[in-house]
Amino acid sequence: MNVKDYEKIIRPRLKDARFEHSKNVSKEAVRLAKKYGADVEKAAIAGILHDITKETSEEEQLEIMKKAGIELSPLEANSTKLWHAISGSGYIKIVLGIDDEDILNAVRYHTTARGGMSLLEKIIFISDFTSAERDYDGVDEIRKAADKSLEAAMIEGLSFSIEDLAHRRLAIAKDTLDAYNEVILKKK
Ligand SMILES: [Fe+2]
Ligand SMILES: [Fe+2]
Repeated sequence: MNVKDYEKIIRPRLKDARFEHSKNVSKEAVRLAKKYGADVEKAAIAGILHDITKETSEEEQLEIMKKAGIELSPLEANSTKLWHAISGSGYIKIVLGIDDEDILNAVRYHTTARGGMSLLEKIIFISDFTSAERDYDGVDEIRKAADKSLEAAMIEGLSFSIEDLAHRRLAIAKDTLDAYNEVILKKK
């Protein structure tokens, strides 16, 4: 199956705006993959599929995660906003039959990030911030950083996430802090 086939699969699962977002993330991921030397086809596929279960009910997501043998940490179990990334990777594995670990992880960690991310994982994490339709305060900084280097973009994206979560008094996943510390310590 190619990107167009996957586009057809997500179309009935997502509202118009999220479908457009998914296509834009896929395009942005292709652009960054070409710029930074990642697998372009995998970037396109992970991008189009990254939010595949974002509009799926919590019950159904729990079911998918269970079937895929995924166990949630206490923080993950309490943070339903993180579920779609986790259930999304489970869905594309068990329902769509995707067995490429890098694509599965790119979907799995597109919201939290994690320490030791692959090139593809970083590209999907960043593309979700910088896709064409994004217009939140701070998007220009992340876009500029993405033109400079993936590391600079990771720092901007992770700082944005951590600041936003703390500002809203929400929990911050350890994976997110690991990713942040890793890229900050490498810079020094
Ligand atoms: Fe997402
Ligand atoms: Fe997204």
